[in-house]
Amino acid sequence: MAGQFRSRVAGTGSYLPQKVLANADLEKMVDTNDQWIVERTGIERRHIAAEGEITSDLCFQAATRALADAGLSAKDLDLIIVGTVSGDQQMPSTACVLQAKLGAGNIMAFDLAAACSGFIYSLSIADQFIRTGVYKNVLVVGAEILSRFVNYQDRETCILFGDGAGAWVLSRAEEGAANVIMSSHMHADGNLWELLTVPAGGSKHPLSKEVLDKKMNFVTMKGKEIFKHAVRTMALSCGEALKQNDVTAEDLDWIVPHQANKRIIEAVADYCHVTMDKMICHLQETGNTSSASIPLAFEAAKKAGQIKRDQLILLTAFGAGLTSGSLLLRY
Ligand code: ACO
Repeated sequence: MAGQFRSRVAGTGSYLPQKVLANADLEKMVDTNDQWIVERTGIERRHIAAEGEITSDLCFQAATRALADAGLSAKDLDLIIVGTVSGDQQMPSTACVLQAKLGAGNIMAFDLAAACSGFIYSLSIADQFIRTGVYKNVLVVGAEILSRFVNYQDRETCILFGDGAGAWVLSRAEEGAANVIMSSHMHADGNLWELLTVPAGGSKHPLSKEVLDKKMNFVTMKGKEIFKHAVRTMALSCGEALKQNDVTAEDLDWIVPHQANKRIIEAVADYCHVTMDKMICHLQETGNTSSASIPLAFEAAKKAGQIKRDQLILLTAFGAGLTSGSLLLRY
């Protein structure tokens, strides 16, 4: 049975919290300015979850829209995967909370922690379950409330991140269908884990007054180093996808990269020998939403009439870990 089936993208949806934090607002909080942020990152604003709004709420909104787009109900789902590093709590998983909120059956549900690669990592796992014939309909969500893990006194990180969620329903495709997930190539280089971390809150540094005083519960990052690895790993994994499927960059309709920094996206375009008009770039509106960034950018491009059915689309991401990967699909 293994390898007999393929997955198609049956439905997509996304959700952004209402509150907007613009660069002008950050100017009042830290020593920064709109011009620096736009020139160095491309980000103009980001959305921030309201007080009391939690990650599973964002997941619920995005998932409900994706299910409606797929013409399915929560009862049709066989599996829920939530890519997140900012879930509701340490335990249980946000996916289990989401399962209850959606009113899905007692199906397998788990979170996947691959930081900004979380969505494509989750898609690749969902795809494996469908390919082997185990499941027919899988809900994949990328969702983050990183604003709760960012130090708004640290100008190097607080300008980057935002909150949001995106969801896709993958379903078993008809035999011989062309619109399927064609390949996924996922990687991690654990030797580089220290470049991007939230040091405290786990078994290494349980929360304590000392840890909180040292602000170890917030994102720490070596931005320049990450920048270099981001470009190299995304370009390499895009190359793997093209090679395996015997297609060229010219054949692609779109590349949807992780939305961290416009200069990173430009450098990946350069490496892949494509012009920026093939790169979906939405980070001016959202900042870096980690695992939510690819489905949010995809949805915005769909609404703008850029992404359409039957197109050949390459997703690529990198994130803390350092994780990275690419996934090629015909939508
Ligand atoms: N406003 C104004 N000046 C600033 C700011 C700011 N917000 N932040 C830094 N600066 C200053 C620095 O202090 C430095 O000043 P100096 O020259 O006097 O020392 C100067 O600007 C240049 O700083 P750099 O760090 O060299 O700036 P760079 O061009 O590298 O841009 C940035 C920094 C935007 C962080 C970039 O390196 C980047 O985007 N890196 C990738 C980060 C990333 O994507 N992280 C998320 C990974 S995904 C995940 O898993 C969550």
